[in-house]
Amino acid sequence: MNLEVLKATANAMVASGKGILAADESTPTIKKRFDTINTESTEESRRRYREMLFITEGAADFIGGVILFDETIRQSRTDGTPFPAYLNNLGMLAGIKVDAGAKALAGFEDETVTEGLDGLRDRLAEYASLGAKFAKWRAVINVSGTIPSAYCLKANAHALARYAALCQEHNIVPIVEPEVLMDGTHSIERCEEVTSAALDIVFQELEEHGVALEGIILKPNMVISGSDAQNRATPSEVAEATVRCLKKHVPENVAGIAFLSGGQTSEEATEHLDLMNKIGNLPWELSFSYGRALQAAPLNAWQGKEENFSAGQEAFLKRAKLNSLAHLGQYHTDMEV
Ligand code: 13P
Repeated sequence: MNLEVLKATANAMVASGKGILAADESTPTIKKRFDTINTESTEESRRRYREMLFITEGAADFIGGVILFDETIRQSRTDGTPFPAYLNNLGMLAGIKVDAGAKALAGFEDETVTEGLDGLRDRLAEYASLGAKFAKWRAVINVSGTIPSAYCLKANAHALARYAALCQEHNIVPIVEPEVLMDGTHSIERCEEVTSAALDIVFQELEEHGVALEGIILKPNMVISGSDAQNRATPSEVAEATVRCLKKHVPENVAGIAFLSGGQTSEEATEHLDLMNKIGNLPWELSFSYGRALQAAPLNAWQGKEENFSAGQEAFLKRAKLNSLAHLGQYHTDMEV
């Protein structure tokens, strides 16, 4: 493990005004996204869609890292340049999703544990040779009045730590993602309670495994009302609760924090990030690692049609730029028009 390499990568991913594009949808997930625009999901349509995003002129001003899926890290631009080489060269560092998905946790109803540790050391070695500078592993925590169980939180945190240590062995920065899902009717207070417990056990496991926190990026959910909650917290309440929770439960030496969007609209995800950075006085960069909140607009503008290629790029650049401003606390909702 070379801590200086890890730190340099992590810092570049969330450098001032930069954030991460999560473009690592698995084949079934990207098919679902393409279904919404009546576009067939083929190896070539997936490649072309991702190419549209990656070669957007100016994107590198706002994007410091791109998370890829196994298929995509092996694909190339139309001109033949492999995607990872192209992205790394522009400073949009190539990353790779390495988990094998959240699977039912035996004996615990409605709870999951993320799989993918078997063979991970060898897969990481191959991904490093393909140009991956960082990786992602997502743990999924369901919320209700009775779950998550302490055991579910522990099992997921243990796997995250095992994954993170293996990544660092290969000088690959682990994105550590314990996602407390927004699905449900729960209150923002319940989200804060569960997020606090999830973060505590994650950092305990990371510490016990000797993971260098200066060489990880934390990818948390925001502290937010459940998507079907009766009384939804306001944007400033979300910002205040999230900053309070992170300050209490995330060690200061973590290299950086990049949120997932988790089902928020694109505009909400940008506004929430901006309000947190306007609160300021934080020990880490607070940035974005959005999938849906960066891609919904370009996907819609593209519609799977070659003639909409530049409209898709324009829509992507706009969201990348507005989220970059939100990272700096310089966004305003007026900028949406
Ligand atoms: P969303 O921003 O769409 O939640 O996706 C981010 C991600 O990579 C989840 O693992």
